[in-house]
Amino acid sequence: MTRKPTREEAWQLLVEYVPSDSLQRHALAVEAVMRHMARRAGEDEEAWGLVGMAHDIDYERFPEQHCVKAREILDQHGWPEEYVRAVVSHGWGICSDVEPRSLMEKTLFAIDELTGLVTAAALVRPSRSVLDLPVKSVQKKWKDKAFAAGVDRAVIEKGAAMLGVDLAELTGHTIDGMRAVALEIGLKGTL
Ligand SMILES: [Fe+2]
Ligand SMILES: [Fe+2]
Repeated sequence: MTRKPTREEAWQLLVEYVPSDSLQRHALAVEAVMRHMARRAGEDEEAWGLVGMAHDIDYERFPEQHCVKAREILDQHGWPEEYVRAVVSHGWGICSDVEPRSLMEKTLFAIDELTGLVTAAALVRPSRSVLDLPVKSVQKKWKDKAFAAGVDRAVIEKGAAMLGVDLAELTGHTIDGMRAVALEIGLKGTL
């Protein structure tokens, strides 16, 4: 039987599998951006948010089986297939062959890595904050491949193309989404 989890249930499950602060903050950042994007699109904010929160649930304990273990864990807890498919599809071409199809899936695919670049760009500001981070600062870091080298720019580009939005616009929405949880994700800085 499947049932939509509450946010509290999703969070309890996440912290059970993801003890690390940094990955918890990543989960909260992606959740916040997904909620922001869902609201803009008039879509199901709770579904998008929880999918965003849970997308890397298996990454800390099972990095070699990323996306595979996530399906197992979420299935075991009766999460709806729509949520589970979306979680797995964020690793399309990397750790899964499930292609993002729905708007929710394409959005997750596009913004996941982008939150990493926004985080890195915020942390090098004097304020160490996302609150005063302009889109331009993120764009400047785009071509500097040594900066936040772990962030796969090609995946973000692929995601933006899937959504049919330009990168500057997507970056702006990502920053806006993250601002709502700046304190929780450690990016309030001195502001
Ligand atoms: Fe992932
Ligand atoms: Fe992620």
